[in-house]
Amino acid sequence: MNQTTRQPKLLKDYAPPNYLVDTVDLDFALDPNATRVKSKLRLRPNPKAGAAGRPLVLDGEGLVLQSLALDGKPLGLDDYRLDEKSLTILSVPDRPFNVETVALCNPEANTALSGLYRSRGTYCTQCEPEGFRRITFFLDRPDVLAIYTVRIEADAETAPVLLSNGNPAAAGKVPGTGRHFALWHDPHPKPSYLFALVGGNLAQVPSRFTTASGRDVALNIYVEPGKEDRCGWAMESLKRAMRWDEVRFGREYDLEMFNIVAVSDFNMGAMENKGLNIFNDKLVLARPDTASDADYGAIEGVIAHEYFHNWTGDRVTCRDWFQLCLKEGLTVFRDQEFTADMRSGPVKRILDVRALKTRQFPEDAGPLAHPVRPASYIEINNFYTATVYEKGAELCRMLQTLLGRDGFRKGLDLYFERHDGEAATVEDFVAAMADSSGRDLSQFMLWYNQAGTPELACSLDYDARSKQVRLSVNQVVPPTPGQARKEPMPIPLKLGLLGSNGDDLPLKLAGGAPLADGLIEVTGREQTFTFADVPTAPTPSLLRDFSAPVRLNISLNPDQIEFLMMHDSDPFNRWQAAQSYATNLLTAAARDGGSEEPVAGREAIRLAQALGTTASEASLSAAYRAEFLKLPSESDVARELGKNVDPDAVRKAYEALRATIGRKIKATLVEIYDSSAASGAFSPDAESAGKRALRGAILDLLVGTGEAAEIARGLRHYREASNMTDAIAALSILSHLHVRDEVLADFYARWQDEPLVLDKWFAVQARATRPDSVETVQALLSHAKFSLKNPNRVRALIGSFVNGNPTGFNRADGAGYELLASSALQIDRFNPHMAARLLGAFESWRTLEPRRQALAKSSLRQLASSQLSTDSYEIVTKTLGAD
Ligand code: PHE
Ligand code: ZN
Repeated sequence: MNQTTRQPKLLKDYAPPNYLVDTVDLDFALDPNATRVKSKLRLRPNPKAGAAGRPLVLDGEGLVLQSLALDGKPLGLDDYRLDEKSLTILSVPDRPFNVETVALCNPEANTALSGLYRSRGTYCTQCEPEGFRRITFFLDRPDVLAIYTVRIEADAETAPVLLSNGNPAAAGKVPGTGRHFALWHDPHPKPSYLFALVGGNLAQVPSRFTTASGRDVALNIYVEPGKEDRCGWAMESLKRAMRWDEVRFGREYDLEMFNIVAVSDFNMGAMENKGLNIFNDKLVLARPDTASDADYGAIEGVIAHEYFHNWTGDRVTCRDWFQLCLKEGLTVFRDQEFTADMRSGPVKRILDVRALKTRQFPEDAGPLAHPVRPASYIEINNFYTATVYEKGAELCRMLQTLLGRDGFRKGLDLYFERHDGEAATVEDFVAAMADSSGRDLSQFMLWYNQAGTPELACSLDYDARSKQVRLSVNQVVPPTPGQARKEPMPIPLKLGLLGSNGDDLPLKLAGGAPLADGLIEVTGREQTFTFADVPTAPTPSLLRDFSAPVRLNISLNPDQIEFLMMHDSDPFNRWQAAQSYATNLLTAAARDGGSEEPVAGREAIRLAQALGTTASEASLSAAYRAEFLKLPSESDVARELGKNVDPDAVRKAYEALRATIGRKIKATLVEIYDSSAASGAFSPDAESAGKRALRGAILDLLVGTGEAAEIARGLRHYREASNMTDAIAALSILSHLHVRDEVLADFYARWQDEPLVLDKWFAVQARATRPDSVETVQALLSHAKFSLKNPNRVRALIGSFVNGNPTGFNRADGAGYELLASSALQIDRFNPHMAARLLGAFESWRTLEPRRQALAKSSLRQLASSQLSTDSYEIVTKTLGAD
């Protein structure tokens, strides 16, 4: 890799393209090793660029150029320049013109899974963000929108199904060749990253949908033959998503056909190509015996996510890749709202916040911190991050909180009205929100431009004489790489004040009107809010529903936290109180190098009793009670400690607290466990899934006691499981114990030929807390069924180990770091995107205790001195930092 490709690209350098493309005609002759792509582009100078007379530079990578013509005339060697990355036509007319190219690419040799590649024999494409240039020469940037017509020709026997974007226009045999063709036309202008093509021997699962205005849409899911019986849930989810987007946001589907294809080799979750979504098969295929409730939930959410992109991404796209959050943050927010409506709102919020804190907070606090809209990048593939996606969604949520649901909807309507068919920016989006609501949102732009998680220190004073409460708020936005000093952010802070019986007291700002929704807006570094007419000293419940992605600091005593845990009317904060109580005990124990007192003494027993009471509250949903019973994870504790982390001490504290709780409220737990057993056939609905989750959470606490009878219960749970949810719950709980071999062997014998289920077998072992977990993973790397080439399998084994096994990955001798470094290095040679993502696991190395820090650093240094792809180079050098 030469140094020029490693120069950062800067947002401030954005310039419109010199040329625009109006139409694209593509003609594919599919062949495993030499696919021929004929392209005819109708171009014109961009009036906004003043490009008259400038050369035309097309992107193109790894292509064999066979011919090139301008307005029908073949070009000679003097007329153009061809290098590794581009094709430059030195002189083009100052009016519309045609460029025709013929080029070859090699799908079989494409191991990076970007561009046109083969997955188990099926031809498929992945063009976001910059894969289209690996298929044909083009202005491969999202602000060039064109209308595509695509002809695909292939062997009729091995590739009977031929798909592209838009509507089908024609199909037929190619006489005398054994080949056939299909013609597709997409009437909606789109950027090249939304192009897609599929060719293969696939089974079709068809259905139909009638839109709100009465248009009939053909829906199809294409899967490997034999997997047709696993598509029902995805299809139902798609229809629910289509209806929901009509009702909630007034968005209707806009083609005659919507196709989904499931493939086994895919770098990410799924892709929103116009009218032809391509999915990692893990996020399509589900049957009760092969997929867990978590899988069902993920499928519903991602099917909806990709579908919602049709408006937020496809109809209105991004001007450049710096604006990635414009489509991703907004679409994640939309899928979160969808799931909240389909299932439990509070439980969805808890899961999303937990994911945000686990994945995004460490990113924001570490060497890879970047704003939701980054100002620079070396490799855009490295910016499909929790910050862009999850924090990006939080920014949309804050806008909805500030403007109200109706206000947010109006703003979105205006955004679509203004920018339909265009490539837009974050400024355009925020302007639509501001203009439709009449609010000044200029300070809000800081959320897009400043990295780092704001820290909000709050304190409360009650004055019994004046009956006033003074809430003081102080915000600090910590420095992040490249951003030493920060401006204060506007923070929507939802709150309640609980009276002595646990009810919410009416909220009224001194000299102001009652606060019906409990929302105040913090805008300065230091602010005081005074509440009037407060009859007694209240217990504060701050940041209800997690109204802003900040760290909240307020010192409450254990009595107050317990009070919130029992009474808070805000279900999110009630859960948060339980988490805070447990986190305080765990951090105290872990700081002491694993002292027993905080996690086994009086306070821990009090927590156990409070958990038992809540778990028995029949008015709460089973899913909510399940979340309540889950202790903060090891990574929650490590994040709270923030420095000098010893993962072994954290684990020890975690296990001790879990055992204390399991022992203390065993009878209650057993009773709930027995009474919430399912009867009848499996159903993935929210209520049934909630019961399974509750039993799973209880089983974890019970087996955590280490008592033989409880381990036997775990084994029974496994043996009697009639669905994957119960089986995998028991398997992972038992995986830490000596009985694991027997269950793992049983699971393997049953599922060895089901790749998605076998991934679970790899993942459970990778996550197991065992002194020899590094050796276990090492051995599994050479297992006959393991392959570095399949991303799902790599994520299952290596990904689960480095992200889901803190004691294993951070083993005191550094063997975990070496394992990651050496396998990432191997993967980097053929799939840089995958390798770079795995290397992200080093991001929190500076929070570790000194010995582990030194070991992690030496692994990173060794990586930095190796031959790395641009992707991995960016992650490794930024993670190491300046010194
Ligand atoms: N745009 C995809 C999404 O819906 C993610 C993706 C990015 C997929 C890059 C493949 C490659 O979030
Ligand atoms: Zn997306």
